[in-house]
Amino acid sequence: MQNDIQEILYSSEQIQNKVKELGELLTRDFEGRNPLVICILKGAFIFMADLVKEIRTPLEIDFMAVSSYGQSTKSSGVVKIIKDLDVSVEGRDVLIVEDIIDSGLTLSYLVDVLERRNAKSVTIVTIFDKPARRTVGLEADYKGFVLPDAFVVGYGLDYAERYRNLPFIGILKPEVYEKKNT
Ligand code: XMP
Ligand code: MG
Repeated sequence: MQNDIQEILYSSEQIQNKVKELGELLTRDFEGRNPLVICILKGAFIFMADLVKEIRTPLEIDFMAVSSYGQSTKSSGVVKIIKDLDVSVEGRDVLIVEDIIDSGLTLSYLVDVLERRNAKSVTIVTIFDKPARRTVGLEADYKGFVLPDAFVVGYGLDYAERYRNLPFIGILKPEVYEKKNT
């Protein structure tokens, strides 16, 4: 599995330190607000689990699954809710936990959905950001690392459902997906 990685961008330790920093900021900013923390499945599951342990104020969690990519490495621009929330966001301070913002299409769609459902506020935290690829005007309120324009895997992120369990974030060797797409 490690042989398919071209370069490690951030180690497990670097990621854990960043998650602690984000947790401190969020603890301060969400104190007393009982936020609904929404994990965007599947990619954000590891970040979510690490992050909520560092947020030292009461909160609730829920999960949402959306699809925009399929098996490809590029966004189709089509966002579909595959699993919706179990609870209402009406009047709630919502914190969306995302793995990576790429084109921004997924999150701009989701923010819109949550605002139309009358969330009191919608805040975004992402562990990774690829600003070079943005096609819509969307920025995270809190972000971990800015990444180059390359397809990355690990720390929850996959290629064709593999590599999510790597504890670091790395660039996948292009021949891995070029081989499978042809
Ligand atoms: P958009 O383009 O809507 O995409 O901002 C966000 C979603 O796309 C996935 N994504 C990636 N997944 N490596 C991955 O494993 C990547 O380099 C990558 N770039 C985008 C991801 O699921 C995210 O939620
Ligand atoms: Mg994915």
